[in-house]
Amino acid sequence: MIDFNYWSPTYIAFGRGKESRTGELVRRFGGHKALLHYGGGSAVRSGLLDRVKASLAEAGVGFVELGGVKPNPRSSLIEEGVRLAIAEGVDFLLAVGGGSVVDSSKAIAIGAANGGEWRRYYVGREVKVKPAIPAALPVGVVLTIAAAGSEGSPNSVVNLEPENLKRAAGGDILRPKFAVMNPELTMSLPPFQTACGLADMFAHLCERYFSPTADVVLSDNLCEAVMRAVVEEGAKVMANPTDYQARANIMWAGTLAHNDVCGAGRVQDWSSHGIEHELSALYDCAHGAGLAVVMPAWMTYVHAADDARFARFARNVFGVGVGESDAKAALDGIAAFRAWLKSLGLPLNFAELGAREEDIPFLVRKLNLSGNTLGGFMPLADDDVAAIYRLCL
Ligand code: NZQ
Ligand code: ZN
Repeated sequence: MIDFNYWSPTYIAFGRGKESRTGELVRRFGGHKALLHYGGGSAVRSGLLDRVKASLAEAGVGFVELGGVKPNPRSSLIEEGVRLAIAEGVDFLLAVGGGSVVDSSKAIAIGAANGGEWRRYYVGREVKVKPAIPAALPVGVVLTIAAAGSEGSPNSVVNLEPENLKRAAGGDILRPKFAVMNPELTMSLPPFQTACGLADMFAHLCERYFSPTADVVLSDNLCEAVMRAVVEEGAKVMANPTDYQARANIMWAGTLAHNDVCGAGRVQDWSSHGIEHELSALYDCAHGAGLAVVMPAWMTYVHAADDARFARFARNVFGVGVGESDAKAALDGIAAFRAWLKSLGLPLNFAELGAREEDIPFLVRKLNLSGNTLGGFMPLADDDVAAIYRLCL
C-alpha cells in the first residue's frame, strides 16, 4: 500500500423524501443565497425542482435559478452562471441533477469565488499539474441519477468551447458539502441512462482495481464487492425500474465507486476515462456509453501486462475462469464484462456509438499526450491509444 491523504467530507442524506431537507442543509453549510442549477427539464417535469424551492423557502434561503445544463456540460453556460452568481451575490451552488449539473455547478463555484476565473483550472490534460484551485463557493447536490459519482468526488469535467475539449479540474475543495440521495428520484430515468450510469460506476471501480500496486487487499476486496453489487442490483433495476431496494443499492454504489474509498493506497489507472472523454467531447455521446465501448478494448490491449489480476477479476466478479490458467481466465473475464454491457443494451463498438474510424488520428491528437504517457496500470503512448481506438471498431 502506498501513502495517501483522504478527505471525503460530504454529508449524505439518503432515502425517500430527503429532498425536503435541502434548505436546512444549505443553511447548515453556510448558504444564505443559492444559485439553483439544473438540467434540461427532467427535474422540472418530475416536480422535484418545486419541492426543492419549497424547502429553500422554508429554511429562509434565497435563490436565483439557472437551468439548461446539457450532458457533457458546456463552458458557455458556465460563463453565464459565473456572471449570474457574481451579480446576484450568491454564496452557495445548489445542483439538482446528475453529474453534468454537478460538474457545471463546481465550475461556477470556482469562477464565482475567483473573480470570474475558472477556465485555467481545467485547461491541460493532467489534473495533478494544473494550478491548485484557491477558492470555491460551497456546493450542495440533490442527485437524480446514479452514475458519475460527482456528488462525492473532488472532480469536475466540462466541455470547453469552442474547441470541444472535455477537461477536468480537481481538488478536495470541490467535494460537495452535502448530497441528498433519494433513490426514488432515479426511477424516472430512461433505461439507457440507467445503463450508462451502471457502466460509469463500474468503470470507476476498474480504474482503481487495475493497479500496479501490490498488496492492497482491502481495496481489492472493496472494489470487487461494489462491482458485484453493481452487476447484481443493476440487473434488477433494468428488469424493474421501480425496484426501490435495487435503486438504493445502485445509488450508494455510484458514490462509493468514486469518492475514492475504494482507491486509497494504490496507483490508479484512468486511461479509459481519458480515452473516452475524447469520444463524448467529439460525438456528444453519453459518457457511460463511451466507456462501454472503450473499457473492453482497453482490457483486451493491456491484460497481458498482469493476467493474474485480470484472472482475479474474472473469478471474483463474474465467477468465470475458475480452474483455468490465468491467461485464459483473463480473456473469459473480459468476455463476461462485455456480455454484461451488452445485456444492459449499451453500445459495444464505434459504429453503435456513432463514432468514426477516420477520426482516430484526430482523437489521439486531441487527447494531447505531448510525448507523455497515459494511465497507471500500463502506461500508454499515442500509438497505444490509437491501437485501443482501433480495437473499438
Ligand atoms: O438534463 P435533464 O433533463 O435532467 O436530463 C438528464 C440528462 O439528459 C437525464 N436525467 C438525469 N436525471 C434524470 C434524468 N432523466 C429522467 N429522470 C431523472 N431522474 O439524464 C441525462 C444525463 O445526465 P448527466 O448529468 O449527463 O449524467 P451523468 O450523471 O452520467 O453525468 C455525466 C457527466 O459526468 C462526467 C461525465 O464526463 C459527463 O460529462 N463525469 C464526472 C465525474 C466527476 N465529476 O467526478 C467523473 C465521471 O467519470 C465523469 O467523467
Ligand atoms: Zn466516469
